Amino acid sequence: MKILVLGSGAREHAIVLALASEPEHHELLAAPGNAGIARDARIVEVDMLDPQGVTQFAKAEAVDLVVVGPEAPLVAGVADELRAHGIPVFGPGKRAAQLEGSKAFAKRIMEQAGVPTGRAVHARTAADVAAALDDFGAPYVVKADGLAAGKGVIVTEDRDAALAHAAEYLPQGSVLVEEFLTGPEVSLFFLSDGDTVRALAPAQDFKRALEGDAGPNTGGMGAYSPLTWLGERFGSIEAFVQEVTDTVALPVVRELDRDGSPFIGLLYAGLILTPAGVRVIEFNARFGDPETQIVLPRLATPLSTLLMAAADGTLEEQPDPEFRDEAAVTVVLASEGYPASPRTGRAIEGLEEAEAVEGVHIAHAATARQGDALIATGGRVLNVVATGATFAEARSRAYEAMGRIRLEGAHFRTDIAAAVA
Ligand code: AMP
Ligand code: GLY
Repeated sequence: MKILVLGSGAREHAIVLALASEPEHHELLAAPGNAGIARDARIVEVDMLDPQGVTQFAKAEAVDLVVVGPEAPLVAGVADELRAHGIPVFGPGKRAAQLEGSKAFAKRIMEQAGVPTGRAVHARTAADVAAALDDFGAPYVVKADGLAAGKGVIVTEDRDAALAHAAEYLPQGSVLVEEFLTGPEVSLFFLSDGDTVRALAPAQDFKRALEGDAGPNTGGMGAYSPLTWLGERFGSIEAFVQEVTDTVALPVVRELDRDGSPFIGLLYAGLILTPAGVRVIEFNARFGDPETQIVLPRLATPLSTLLMAAADGTLEEQPDPEFRDEAAVTVVLASEGYPASPRTGRAIEGLEEAEAVEGVHIAHAATARQGDALIATGGRVLNVVATGATFAEARSRAYEAMGRIRLEGAHFRTDIAAAVA
């Protein structure tokens, strides 16, 4: 197949690597890509945020499938335009993508579908916010309604900080004040063709910048899979996946279909396992980053078959995706100053030595070639991905490889998957 992947992060590199590793040979195109993606796909000049531009390009190049990585092109309507022209695309339309783009829309769909989630109040004024904070009590949870690149949520004991956070986003419309939920978090991805869903392997990411889950929230500093500990609580990983399929994914997909906006693409359920049961914290309308970097390397079923079946509405004919019984760990290398103000433009060295470690590969995030040098162009620079027979083995490989990479001022967490090893 000829497949165009839109996006430029480690998630998109992971998607490209998974497609490139299939027995069937695919012609892979990517836009805008990065220095790592450029090794495995042909970088093409097309603005991923321009629905007409992407569609014209896909037609001219006779692309068989477009895979949309990040949320921005979805919210811009790229998938709608492609679908209107009969081009298979893995990614929901603008309206269904509101599941990620608007927390208020997501809450409404969940309410209509009877999906378990935290109680929330949609507040439009500072007085409404204050009343809701007092009603729920501390710790306080306040969320911006729209896309806020991971910065929209505050969880705090400090009422004034919660009010200040709300004041920052109220001028753009409204905020959600939510009940505080407690328990381990799980990311579960579902492929959806608008009607049928197929789950991928549950994973966990590490959102805080520093060891021991301290410091500011980030886009994600690492992840691991499988979540073997789910068995203790749910009997097995499969039983957990079945419960979430029945109580979360299918009801939401069916509700969106009734709403006239079928969800075709990747439904990401961000879950928290509270003492009272599983609750949805958020939905995303795309693969998670960095979880994709460790979920896809374990996938034994060809990814292209699954993505195409979702795009053309034949997921029901596909068996459940199969996963290799191995441990996968990824650790993010971030630039100095990330997440507040990352320093960019510095040289990265040692990647070949790092990839020489058994079971290790690198998924590039913010990298570019400058002459002979490879330079960091953003906050999250790359992911070291390692697999092994056990988490202890996968972790030791990941950190051995990380130790061989040189980037001035860079930092990474040393405790990724430590608790399960
Ligand atoms: P979100 O952007 O909605 O995924 O929120 C980012 C992070 O904030 C989540 O991964 C949780 O760690 C935390 N969070 C969000 N909502 C709640 C909640 N209701 N109770 C506790 N923590 C939350
Ligand atoms: N891992 C969090 C996200 O992709 O939003």
